[in-house]
Parts: sequence; C-alpha cells; structure tokens
Amino acid sequence: MAGANGGSPPGAIDVGPIDLELLPATARLSPEGSLSIGGCDLAGLADELGTPLFVYDEEHLRARCREYRELFGDEVTYAGKAFLCTAMVGLVAEEGLRLDVSTGGELHLALRAGFLAERIVFHGNNKSTDELAAALRAGVGRIVVDSFDELDRIDALVAGGLPAPGVLVRVTPGVEAHTHTYIETGTEDSKFGFSVRSGAALEACRRVVASASTRFLGVHCHIGSQIFALHSYSRAAEVVARFAAEVEAATGATIDEISLGGGLGVRYHRGDVAPSLAEYAALLRESLHAACGAAGVRGRAALAVEPGRSIAARAGVTLYRVGTIKAIPDVRTYVAVDGGMSDNVRPSTYGARYETFVPSRADRARPLVVTVAGKHCEQGDVLVRDATLPADLAVGDVLCTPTTGAYGYAMASNYNKVPRPAVVFVRDGAARVVVQRETYDDLARLDAS
Ligand code: LLP
Repeated sequence: MAGANGGSPPGAIDVGPIDLELLPATARLSPEGSLSIGGCDLAGLADELGTPLFVYDEEHLRARCREYRELFGDEVTYAGKAFLCTAMVGLVAEEGLRLDVSTGGELHLALRAGFLAERIVFHGNNKSTDELAAALRAGVGRIVVDSFDELDRIDALVAGGLPAPGVLVRVTPGVEAHTHTYIETGTEDSKFGFSVRSGAALEACRRVVASASTRFLGVHCHIGSQIFALHSYSRAAEVVARFAAEVEAATGATIDEISLGGGLGVRYHRGDVAPSLAEYAALLRESLHAACGAAGVRGRAALAVEPGRSIAARAGVTLYRVGTIKAIPDVRTYVAVDGGMSDNVRPSTYGARYETFVPSRADRARPLVVTVAGKHCEQGDVLVRDATLPADLAVGDVLCTPTTGAYGYAMASNYNKVPRPAVVFVRDGAARVVVQRETYDDLARLDAS
C-alpha cells in the first residue's frame, strides 16, 4: 500500500536546512536566519499569539485559487473540507471559485458567511432530509447525488413545494488512485457514488433525467486524495466519458458538465515529487477531450475540478512550543510539543510524514534526529518520526511543521480536552486572527449540567 504522502518511500535522512519549497510562497529567511511568512516573523507570532498556532499565507491561498481559475476557467470548486472558516469562505468568493460543502454544518457556515448559494456544490454520501431541505430552500446550485435514498428525499421535498435542484450524479468509475486506502474513493468497493459497472449509475441518471424534481446537469467522480499517479485520472476520464455517451444514448439528455473531483497530491516531505498544477490540468483536459471524442459524447462536457489540498496544504504551517526533551539511551529522543494528534491527526491516521524545523534558526543544518510527539495520552501521538532538527534544540524553542494547511485544523478535535488552536492569516506584515483559540470555558460550553 502506498503511503499517504503519495508513495515516496522514506529515504535517507536529510540533515540540511528546511526546503523552502515546502513552505508558503511568501516564506523568507532573514539575514539572521529567522523565517517569516507574509512579512510576519514566525517565532514572533508564536510569542504574541501563543501555540499551537495555524498560520496561513493569504497570498499563497489566493495565488493558488487564481492559478486554478487560469487553468480551468469558471469550473473550479474549492473543497471546503480541506480547510474552512468564515474568512476562507470570503477568500474563495473573492477569488471567484465555487464552494463544495459536504454537510449541513459546512453549508450553514458558507451561507452564514454570505457565499452565493447558486455557487455552492453540495456533496455527501448520506445527506439527511433536513440538510437537503436547507440546501433546496437556499437555492444551492448543484447537488451531487449519491444514492437512490437521496433521490427519494429530493422527490419528497420537491413534492412538498421546494424548488427542483440542479443535480450531478456521482459515479464510481472502478479506478484505483494509488493512494492510501482510507482516501481512495473511485474503486467498486466505495461508500460513495453509484457504480458504473453494476448499472446503478445509469439507472440513477435515467431517474434524474425523467424526474420533474431534478434538473440533470452532468456526472461527477472523485477517485481519491493525495494522488501523484496522474494516469489514474486518465483512466477515470475514459470510464466517465464512455458512461456519459451511454447516458446520452439511453436518455436523450446531453452531458454538459463532467467533474473529475479533486485529489491532486502535494509534497509534504523533501523526497516527495508531485505533479505541477499545469501538468495536472493539461493531462485532465487532454484525457477528457480525447475520451469524449472517442466515445461520441454530444454535450459540452465541460471539465470541472474540486481541489482542496492542492490549494490549502502548502499555504499553512503549524507552530508549536517544545515542552520536554526526553532522551532514551539506545532507543530514541522524544521532543514533546504542546499540540499533537488533536491538531494534526494525519500522521496517526494515515502514517503521513511531515518535516519540521526551528523558525528562529531556519538556515541551520538539522543533524539531530528525534521523534516529535504531542501531549496526548497515547503512544501513537507522534507528529514527526525521524524529524531532523538543529543540534542546539532546547526546551522553549518554537517548532514549525510545514504543509499543514489542509486536513489539519479541519480534522482537529478536543481529545484530552485540549482546546483547538487559533488560526491566523498573514499578509504584508500583518497577522489577522481568523479563528480564535478555544478556551477552557469553551470546552464546557455544551455540557448540560
Ligand atoms: N471532492 C470530493 C467529493 C471529495 O470527497 C474531496 C476530498 C475533494 C473533492 C478534495 O480532495 P483534495 O483535492 O483535497 O484531495 N482527510 C484526508 C483527505 C480526505 C479527502 C476527502 N475528500 C487526508 O487528510 O489526507
């Protein structure tokens, strides 16, 4: 099984300074060797705002959104599950992307932040009647239907007077994405979507086209996340294009939109090699164009994408403070920080590998090999195994883990009643808190007695 970093095997331990290419675009080293992002010194931010702290480079986020728009036009939907808060909703709107929400909670946040309902794409394999009702009432532009039960619920809601929504049918193309099995979603054995092979997908499309309670917009597939093997997308494009032609022949409808979902992998570690956005866009476009031509698709079949990680991951870093250093002779040295699996569950869930460095001495070699652990009551609470750090690492130092901008804060928990960190956006020398740090009182807020 490939690792969650996309399959690069753990290589020789690298003891050089941190690779700036893993950091956000505005990361700069001062002449003294301290690292800043968006003109804000990272160690200074930790002193001022406390740790753990998520720091996002606003310029980087915006630049990625713009790159996507340049490559895919208006057919770009930001996958909010990667990282969402009110400020991020605003940024996505300003940059002209659509927004993918996959629960009533994400939908609520988006609408509350003023995101145009018509530009929201609603996902999820088990949308409740209440969630669907909220989406229809608000006028959400696209519902990506995932089951026959969901179609039944939409029928009932429209019969009850709500407007008929535009619908994409999510299909599973039976394609392997060569990523971690937990985040592989395009194979036959998936809880998502309708299977093409079994005929369920065609039946779902027939029903959507024939029904007065849905407007058929096209087909959708998402084969997985943290994908480096671009050929998986070509195979998905072929299957979906053949399927689209079949739907057109069977129903008389035309397929005007084909979404190939998100999933482009990013570098987490110096050894990772990720495709560029331009390579990814070219491959998707060419594969889909060729496949639609070969299959004889009559509709426009506009290519749509739904990136999450490849917009947010590299834009964000996490700052921690070292609390204890414990050297166990002939075993390993544990460096414990003030966060852990409650703010980054990816290492313990997917075996994901990260880098780490000391931002006040970011130009230094990192010959010290240690294990960076969190503060949770769990031996598996390890953030970076075989981390390399400067030789003079000491208690009180600020540590930084790069590329935590996607599925970090989004998957944060209060395990062990640890308050969730604050999130700041930095830009032009100013830091703006966009999510406040939780307090101990917040932790008791929902307790009934
Ligand atoms: N569209 C759909 C329907 C999705 O389910 C997802 C991610 C995306 C788009 C965005 O995929 P991305 O571009 O971010 O790869 N928690 C896991 C990742 C789970 C991905 C869930 N779906 C992780 O930390 O690796």
